[in-house]
Amino acid sequence: MYLTKEEEKTLRGEDGETLQKAIEILVALGDIYGADALIPIKSAQVSGVSYKTIGDAGIEWISDLKGTVKVPTVLNPAGMDMDNWERLGIDPKFAAKQIEIINAFGSLGIEPKCTCTPYYLSGFDVQYKDHLAWGESSAISFSNSVLGARTNREGGPSALSAALVGKTADYGFHKTENRTPNIEITVDFETAGSDYGALGYIAGKIVGSKIPLFKIKSVPSKDEMKMLGAAMAASGAVALYHIDGVTPEITDKEFVYEKPAESVSIEKKDIDAVYESANESTMANDIVTIGCPHCSKAELAQIADLLEGKTVVKEFWVFTSRELAGQNKDLVDRIEASGAKVVCDTCMVVSPAANKYQCMMVNSGKAYAYVPSMCGSKATYGTVERCVKDATGEI
Ligand code: F3S
Repeated sequence: MYLTKEEEKTLRGEDGETLQKAIEILVALGDIYGADALIPIKSAQVSGVSYKTIGDAGIEWISDLKGTVKVPTVLNPAGMDMDNWERLGIDPKFAAKQIEIINAFGSLGIEPKCTCTPYYLSGFDVQYKDHLAWGESSAISFSNSVLGARTNREGGPSALSAALVGKTADYGFHKTENRTPNIEITVDFETAGSDYGALGYIAGKIVGSKIPLFKIKSVPSKDEMKMLGAAMAASGAVALYHIDGVTPEITDKEFVYEKPAESVSIEKKDIDAVYESANESTMANDIVTIGCPHCSKAELAQIADLLEGKTVVKEFWVFTSRELAGQNKDLVDRIEASGAKVVCDTCMVVSPAANKYQCMMVNSGKAYAYVPSMCGSKATYGTVERCVKDATGEI
């Protein structure tokens, strides 16, 4: 792998031990995956932030690092709302550990913005063909697929190393030739809203880590594509997908590809079967959560409208980023007037707050895939409308 004189100097440890370790990780990955050089990145998003997932070993590792990130860098959701952790009943000992983690990241110049939708953040602009080092699977999928930017599925240490060096190894999804679709998925019926989370949940199980090219009858919105990609990254390991006539790369005339040799169809009955989880469940939902990935402004507005004049009869948590909640206080107030809680910096999966519930209704294919293993509760799937009706006792 070719390294510039500056990079070689860093590798020899002349810029300090942290940078040496960081570039060693990047070079090792580059050697394994056949990169010929390091390339500059525009931004980084570091996963492995919740104390629930990284524990004391993670704190120790981050706390040992010194230096400052070279590109704008934000964090994946933490294990709690950093400003209001008591509200969801977080243990003070857990809170102290989580604060320690965020402070350790902060000492490296990383902004305490904990979200899986960094593409909504102001000043965190992502353009077509930008190279990134992002770590959260739904954000990776969105940036690669919906924005046409380029990132591999970074782990916490590799994203952090890339942020500190300001570069990543040029392999995998950074290369045009590795972005070619290799399975076609036909969806020959109308789809909308939460159908995309169910579709992604099914598609991910079918395609694993392949690159699907969807032929979809309906034209999904960006929020719907967010739900599709998040679910495929959870039930499978999809980091990049294309939608014929919709996503930027597949509509770029310079992107030359052959029709995939493999093809499958997903039927309406497959989607209906995911929704059936709610009807078939023998257990009542004792909590409802929305916001996996974190809600956009439009999604907050939809929930506020649906909750207008209603009162929730069980815990109803809505997750979004702190920045979006701050920019949309009117929507937050309208949602919370019902008794629902808008929660920032965290989510139902990476926070321990949801662990005490038995059955959670979600509108997200990713949450539907992860809640049973990560929270130990059963999950049922519904549209946003159904989630609101469940939370307000109308069903
Ligand atoms: Fe985000 Fe948590 Fe879902 S990190 S994508 S809300 S599992």
